[in-house]
Amino acid sequence: MKHLIIYAHPSKRSFSFQLKNALKVESERRGWSATIRDLYEMKFDPVLWPSDLEKMKTGNTEDYILKEQELVKEADIISVVYPLWWAGFPAILKGYIDKILSYGFAYKAGKNGIEGLLTNKKVYLYTSMGNKVEEYEEKGLIEAFRKIQGGEIFEFCGMNVEHQQFFPQIPSASTEEIEKHLQVALSVFEPISENVSS
Ligand SMILES: Cc1cc2nc3c(=O)[nH]c(=O)nc-3n(C[C@H](O)[C@H](O)[C@H](O)COP(=O)(O)O)c2cc1C
Repeated sequence: MKHLIIYAHPSKRSFSFQLKNALKVESERRGWSATIRDLYEMKFDPVLWPSDLEKMKTGNTEDYILKEQELVKEADIISVVYPLWWAGFPAILKGYIDKILSYGFAYKAGKNGIEGLLTNKKVYLYTSMGNKVEEYEEKGLIEAFRKIQGGEIFEFCGMNVEHQQFFPQIPSASTEEIEKHLQVALSVFEPISENVSS
């Protein structure tokens, strides 16, 4: 299994940083290959400039985008690790999606409407937050986040969003709570089968 971990947090002191590392360790424990795309470390330029749009339209895709698209195409599992900022993705992640999940690569218009091209991929979204989940639930926003951040992007492109895990009140969480969150994050993967064939 190829596990692509897309990670969008500027700080090594964040919960997201720990989670990204834990996902890599868990992948290796399971015998999966794990590739981390650390968007800040890569200094990924999230702005879709006029020239980028032009290149997109003419199919003249730049090498750095082709490289990311190859990683997405090859992946069986994609984990996306990010903090919730202003009820959405950090700009660097939004820009990654704008540029990488492009028309013709991730989706196309078919006879019956939009066709997602990235099938047979499991997606896991890991969203850390400052607020409580209940506060967002009262406003109907947890469902909205699932639809907008999962459905309208990854499922739109043909992928299966298996799970979106929200991690509330992270800035005030204790070490024990952080440890529990990490365990919950890893528990979303299917248990490793104990039946080893001889
Ligand atoms: C620019 C910015 C915007 C934020 N917007 C939100 C928000 O809309 N909702 C929320 O619950 N937390 C918000 N926060 C808090 C972060 O989500 C929270 O600090 C972070 O997820 C904690 O996890 P981390 O250690 O991985 O950063 C925001 C933080 C920043 C810096």
